[in-house]
Amino acid sequence: MHVTMTVNGEEVERDIEPRVLLVHFLRDDLGLTGTHWGCDTSNCGACVVQIDGEPVKSCTTLAVMADGCHVRTVEGLAENGSLDPVQQGFMEEHGLQCGFCTPGMMLTARALLDENPDPSETEIREAISGQLCRCTGYATIVRAVRWAAEHPAGAAAEAAPEGEKEAAEL
Ligand code: FES
Ligand code: FES
Repeated sequence: MHVTMTVNGEEVERDIEPRVLLVHFLRDDLGLTGTHWGCDTSNCGACVVQIDGEPVKSCTTLAVMADGCHVRTVEGLAENGSLDPVQQGFMEEHGLQCGFCTPGMMLTARALLDENPDPSETEIREAISGQLCRCTGYATIVRAVRWAAEHPAGAAAEAAPEGEKEAAEL
């Protein structure tokens, strides 16, 4: 089947077999290996990407189901050379150890914050409840998402002199 989709802002077109999963399409056809592949049974959430802004498990989504959609992977989080506040939050609050769950966690966090810019701890835990982390115990992940909520313009903008700070917030 012929598929056309926008991935991290770039339009891609491919002829693929209908059985190809989105995670394999992203990793093997497009080389976007930031999307991790863990359980393959919709349990771990390491494979989460966004389709039209919604977090989905790409190991149980056929690539053809994303035909005509906007797909965002972890490679598309940073913009214009600046980390997304979610990425900064994971750095500031040590929200990862091995990092295997991290790309999916960050895509879910970004989707949450786009819908709810000031989520409570309970709301964050609910949002990531479909994703497993074997390392952190989740506390630092929750803090990382809260950090991003409290710094919507990112740390760089806050550290900048007043004039630059105003420009960064525009
Ligand atoms: Fe998709 Fe585990 S690899 S949920
Ligand atoms: Fe290792 Fe989450 S940081 S699984």
